[in-house]
Amino acid sequence: MTTPPSAIGTTRALRRMVSEAPALRRGLGITMLLAALGTAIQVVVPIVVQRIIDSEILAPGGVDLADTLTLGGIAVTAMLAAMVVRRLALVRLALRAAQGLSDLRVRAFSHIHSLSVLHVEAERRGSLVARVTSDVAAIQDFVDWGGVGLLIGAAQVTLAVAMMLVYQWRLALFVLGGVVLYGLLLVLFQRVLKRLHDQVRSLVGDTLAAIGETISGLVVVRAYGAEEATMAKVRTVVHRQFRTEHRTFTLGAAMFSSAEVFAGAITAGVIGLGVAYGQGWGLSAGTLLAMLFLVTLLVEPVQTLVETLDQAQSAAAGVRRIIEVLDTPVEIADPVDGVPLPDGALDVSFAGVWFRYPSGEQAVRDVSVTIPAGARVAVVGETGSGKSTFSKLATRLLDPTSGEVLVGGIPLDRVGFTDLRRRVVFVPQEGFLFDTTIAGNVRYGRPDASDARIERAFAELELDGWLASLPSGLATAVGERGSNLSAGERQLVALVRAWIANPDVLVLDEATSAVDPALEVQIRRAMEHLTESRTSITVAHRLSTAAAADWVMVFDQGRLVERGPHEDLVALGGVYAALHVDWAAGTGGGGRPIAPVQ
Ligand SMILES: Nc1ncnc2c1ncn2[C@@H]1O[C@H](COP(=O)(O)OP(=O)(O)OP(=O)(O)O)[C@@H](O)[C@H]1O
Ligand SMILES: [Mg+2]
Repeated sequence: MTTPPSAIGTTRALRRMVSEAPALRRGLGITMLLAALGTAIQVVVPIVVQRIIDSEILAPGGVDLADTLTLGGIAVTAMLAAMVVRRLALVRLALRAAQGLSDLRVRAFSHIHSLSVLHVEAERRGSLVARVTSDVAAIQDFVDWGGVGLLIGAAQVTLAVAMMLVYQWRLALFVLGGVVLYGLLLVLFQRVLKRLHDQVRSLVGDTLAAIGETISGLVVVRAYGAEEATMAKVRTVVHRQFRTEHRTFTLGAAMFSSAEVFAGAITAGVIGLGVAYGQGWGLSAGTLLAMLFLVTLLVEPVQTLVETLDQAQSAAAGVRRIIEVLDTPVEIADPVDGVPLPDGALDVSFAGVWFRYPSGEQAVRDVSVTIPAGARVAVVGETGSGKSTFSKLATRLLDPTSGEVLVGGIPLDRVGFTDLRRRVVFVPQEGFLFDTTIAGNVRYGRPDASDARIERAFAELELDGWLASLPSGLATAVGERGSNLSAGERQLVALVRAWIANPDVLVLDEATSAVDPALEVQIRRAMEHLTESRTSITVAHRLSTAAAADWVMVFDQGRLVERGPHEDLVALGGVYAALHVDWAAGTGGGGRPIAPVQ
């Protein structure tokens, strides 16, 4: 068992972050050195102040103006130098942080892309988006300065306490006691903060998911007048995020105030003790003032430390969610020693294949079948009978729970991805178009295709007429998800995309959306061409598609119950025959409108 991410401690999470984003570490030594130098130089100030007071202002011989000016000059120079050096360290850190975090974003994103279709579909998209964007952003504040500030701050506190011990050990002990007590209080704060920050990060994901869903579903929301209910849903998640953020913020603010109280108490304590007992302890005015400077030097990093702890918790919560993504195993991985597929036509065979969804749904049961090379096969069945699942198994978008899928005699999970994706192409049920031109969308099938080649592809599928009817031909923009085109037109583009990829095995999950008859004819003709002269498995929702196949496979509740040529199955009087009666009556299997055979 791996540790659940929420159980990963803050330090471990932050260490993991640095190992995942190595840029964060690059040049860190020099940056730390600069920051430490800045701190060390600052310590010069109290020493000089003590000198000015004890050896100049209060000296029996009176003030030596030249010496005093020199000392003053040293103090001012030290302060300026410290400022410059620290600024330099900050700039270096900010640059590295930006680099490291952009690396982390890219890693998280590319890992999401290598996860199985199943995993990505199960996770709400908004939540995945949040992991790549806002969770990474939550780390920003901390890596910008926090981590180094924490270390430098601790060094500064140690240095200040050490110097106090030299000047006046009793006061130093008092201060040290205060620091320890306050530290214990911070540990308590931390516990609660960790939990709250984890909640905030996950609620931000919820909010993004809810907003994303309602915006993409805007048309449905409007059409059903569901604005009120939708708004209420979004309002609930936004409000929940706000309440948790508010609580986190209040606790953070309480922590900051406690740091103020701590600073005040320590300063007052040192002054009080110094004034009351100073004489007895042999404390000079200069030393007392130097002690007060040291207290400032000590209190300032404690205050930043408190702020940093808050940032560290927020960062760790973000890191934990990113780790969760990075540590999700890639179930469907590119094999290390990929076996090349044999040249020429490929057969597809299923041997005792079962598939069960993580939700428990047994979608494919014990399917054994061989589809010979070059065959044109149609897969039919009631809705939910497992057709889409079968087609995903055939293209290795899913791996069987048990059994084996072979293409060209090679087990699919041994075929390298480059070979697999080039030779076995899947056209999903809802073909997806990207927000670019027609040509840009077709090129997903063959990135190096020229415009002339793409135009020829349209002509080969007898779609040149349709292409010519578009306002800008190949350069026509399809809009987001292809929304400028009709559902049927989107299918046409998806078909050309598959055609230009020229695979040896084509698995096509026919779209269920009804289209107008003229377009229907064009789609069918294009599909005829596409499924010719290669092994093709078409999940058919139209009778015409099934009738045109060499043979038909009939699924029922995940089982392959009948197979054979269309005519034979009709004659058999079984499941297919019943489906056929439905289709021919025009009512459609599963209540879908079906085009009659022509
Ligand atoms: N991602 C998923 N998670 C859980 N169960 C699923 C998932 N996808 C499909 N199923 C279930 O698996 C079964 C088979 O689904 P599948 O999509 O393969 O059916 P289908 O034959 O393609 O249906 P349709 O004709 O409606 O496209 C159904 O019972 C469905 O509810
Ligand atoms: Mg389906």
